[in-house]
Amino acid sequence: MSQSNEPLKIAVFASGSGSNFQALAEAIKREDIHASIELVVCDKPSAYVLERANQLNIATYVFKPKEYASREHYEQEIVNKLLADGIDLIVLAGYMRIITNVLVEPFYGRMINIHPALLPSFPGLDGVGQALDYGAKLTGATVHFVDGGTDTGPIIAQQVVEIREDDTKETLAHRIQQVEHILLPKVVRMISEGKVTLSGRKVRVAQ
Ligand code: GAR
Repeated sequence: MSQSNEPLKIAVFASGSGSNFQALAEAIKREDIHASIELVVCDKPSAYVLERANQLNIATYVFKPKEYASREHYEQEIVNKLLADGIDLIVLAGYMRIITNVLVEPFYGRMINIHPALLPSFPGLDGVGQALDYGAKLTGATVHFVDGGTDTGPIIAQQVVEIREDDTKETLAHRIQQVEHILLPKVVRMISEGKVTLSGRKVRVAQ
C-alpha cells in the first residue's frame, strides 16, 4: 500500500466511545505515522466518537441503519463515498456491525479490524467477557485484515494480556484497551510504510 510520499488516507469506522480512534489520531498528529484520518464513519448519532472527531476537526459520516432497506444499501452508499474520497485504508475500531461483501470486496487487504481477544479465540460480540467467563488465563488484542467472516481474517499483530483472578470485565477491558491503543497505531504505521504484505492467510511484516 501507499509507498509514495502521499500520506495514507484513512477512514475509521466506530460505533462507540472512539478511544482507539483518538489514539490513532494522536499518533498521526505526533507524526509517528505518515497518514491522515479523512473520515469517521459512524452508525450511531449519539456515539462519543463523533464528539472526539469534531474536536479534532475530522469529517464525519453518520448513518442510521434502520433508514435503509438492507446492510448492502447503506454499505454501497459508504463505499461510493470512500472511493470518491480516495480512501486507502479502512480501520474498524469498535464498529459493531456485520460487514457484507459490498464493503469487503473493494477493500480486501485494505481494511483492518481491532478485536479485544486473541483470535481465533473469542470472536464476535463481547470478546472480553467471553475470555473471562471461559476462565482463560491469557487474552489480549488482535489486529487483522477483514474478510467475509466474523473476526476470521488474516492476523497482522497480536499482544497478550494476562487475566488476573480478581479481574472484572471492566478492569480487564481497561488493560486490553491500553494495549490496543499502542497496537493499532503500530500496525497502521507499518502499513503506511509498506511493510505489511498479505499472501493467502499469511501476513508478512518486514522489519
Ligand atoms: C475496542 O476494545 C475494540 O477492540 C472493540 O470495541 C472497543 C471499542 O472501543 N471491538 C470489538 O469488540 C469488535 N468486535 P473504543 O470505541 O473506545 O475504541
